Amino acid sequence: MHLLQYVSPGSSASISPRSLANKCNAVAGGTPAGGGGGGEPPRDLKRPGFLRAAVAPPLVAALVALSPLCLAPASLGQTADIQRGAVLFRQACIACHDAGGNIIQPGATLFMKDLLRNGVGTEEEIYRVTYFGKGRMPGFGENCTPRGQCTFGPRLQEEEIKELAKFVKLQADQGWPKIEIAED
Ligand code: HEC
Repeated sequence: MHLLQYVSPGSSASISPRSLANKCNAVAGGTPAGGGGGGEPPRDLKRPGFLRAAVAPPLVAALVALSPLCLAPASLGQTADIQRGAVLFRQACIACHDAGGNIIQPGATLFMKDLLRNGVGTEEEIYRVTYFGKGRMPGFGENCTPRGQCTFGPRLQEEEIKELAKFVKLQADQGWPKIEIAED
């Protein structure tokens, strides 16, 4: 992670709204981090004595966390999606995939490293596996076949599986941080 990408060129103290917006988008939209910097390191940062390594990253992190730009309607909507995904996940998946793990098959967790290795790195693939199942993973789709490959419990709506796929991908991208679920 390179600090300079969050510091606007030409000023050593302030953070440009654009780079904050990029940071928010990177968190909310699943675009890979690392874009949004671009260009020359600001000249001021090259001055000896500037406490860039020690002070700036936590400061930037705090500013990003507090920035009103992160509360744009898009990310609020996404928060609701994540909440629904989290509730569904707790109902249907957590027994085998607590915290993104896999108690039945340790090499097939929901962490990005495993997902990519197993060819399940996209929302579409996660949807497919969740709908139709795979190996000892039961399918949850209403039209899942053959029956032996599908859950004996309640099936999920297409819309619910989409929310789950989105949730799993987002969590995988972020290393499965804990999510508080409002109890119902
Ligand atoms: C009964 C236990 C069980 C339940 C419940 C379960 N899974 Fe799985 N899941 C597995 C197993 C076992 C695998 C590995 C399948 C394989 O690769 O052969 C797996 C694999 C996956 C994978 C691919 C992971 C990888 O790295 O290859 C995804 C994505 C997934 N499950 C999502 C879900 C979702 C979403 C739910 C809830 C709707 C769910 N699972 C419920 C057992 C379960």
